[in-house]
Amino acid sequence: MNKIEIMKGIYWVGAIDRAVRHFHGHAYTTPRGTTYNAYLIKGEKNVLVDTVYPPFIDDMFDRIKEVMDPSKIDYVVANHVEMDHSGGLPAVMERIPKAKIFCTAKGKEGFSKYYSDKWDYRVVKTGDEISIGGRTLKFIEAPMIHWPDSMFTYIKEDGLLMPNDAFGQHLATDERFDDEVDQDVLRYEMSKYYANILLPLSRIIAKKLDEVKALGLPIKMIAPSHGIIWRKNISLPIEEYTKWSRGDAAGKAVIVYETMYRSTEMMAEAIADGLEKEGVESIVYNFPESDHSHIIKDVMENRGLIVGSSTMHNDILPSIASFVHEVKVLKPIKKIGASFGSRGWAGGAVKKIEDILRGIGADVIESGLDFQYKPSEPELRKCVEFGRRFALKMRDGQPAAL
Ligand code: FEO
Repeated sequence: MNKIEIMKGIYWVGAIDRAVRHFHGHAYTTPRGTTYNAYLIKGEKNVLVDTVYPPFIDDMFDRIKEVMDPSKIDYVVANHVEMDHSGGLPAVMERIPKAKIFCTAKGKEGFSKYYSDKWDYRVVKTGDEISIGGRTLKFIEAPMIHWPDSMFTYIKEDGLLMPNDAFGQHLATDERFDDEVDQDVLRYEMSKYYANILLPLSRIIAKKLDEVKALGLPIKMIAPSHGIIWRKNISLPIEEYTKWSRGDAAGKAVIVYETMYRSTEMMAEAIADGLEKEGVESIVYNFPESDHSHIIKDVMENRGLIVGSSTMHNDILPSIASFVHEVKVLKPIKKIGASFGSRGWAGGAVKKIEDILRGIGADVIESGLDFQYKPSEPELRKCVEFGRRFALKMRDGQPAAL
């Protein structure tokens, strides 16, 4: 795989990581790998925008060398401190120690702490521009998309937006553009990325999207720091981010459960039956057997969230407790929630899950489905009835009563 000229004189010089299967520790599964996208702008001033994760630094330099001698780079634009994009900076600065590094004030703080406070940092703010000869780079601070230091870089003459993590996807592929890959896979990976990384920052993202739209910048291409580059369906990532950041979701219910001896599983199936009777589709996951990052994507994209756990030691079972923790910290908004589960001699899990769902602002319907040992036939009928009540609430937004 060689460097790719994405626009005249602008090159993708990033790296493809086909092997990575987890991000942020084990918080996020990446079964399709990822790319670390860096861009080289050739001109009167040669500019490198971002770098790559350190194990892939040779790939980046090999691609740069196909365009020019790396020592001829004049400026580095460092949009983000996180190491998957800045980890290559020390190797770059070793070759061009006098290069100016354009970044935000928080970026300078982060790079100084991680690498060196001796480099020639040029701190920029939203609206600042630099001319590189025939091209103008405009900077837009984007704090918390994804870290406090993050910024977008926009090339005015080309209408090229380089928003770093925003609009990215963890998708390793030889193809570089949106019109070259499977559209369902692309949308799926962008959604999974947003749900697992950016979801708790949705309020900030919604505001930033409005701010960028108000700037009225013509955008002809969006080149993020992960995955493919948007050149054909530019409106899709913007529309999807607008939707997700506002909590707009489809009308299905996601049922996620962990079971000890199938009792909680039987309850999950009965609730799904009740939902179906009222025409609401459910997506059911036996939690420990499923990809938690995929489930989080479905949670974000759908209105209903019903979580089941057997009680053990008066608490939530450990595996699904990790999922509930993810829900707590990722804070999906505008959910209708509920909990259920079986217990032995004492309960605990159902109430604790309800409290966590309330904590994220979900509209929680108390199910009363906290049954001892194996659910009896009448108790299973109660599960079905609860599924119907939940469906009515989802369909009509009315108080849940049959
Ligand atoms: Fe892809 Fe926030 O780094």
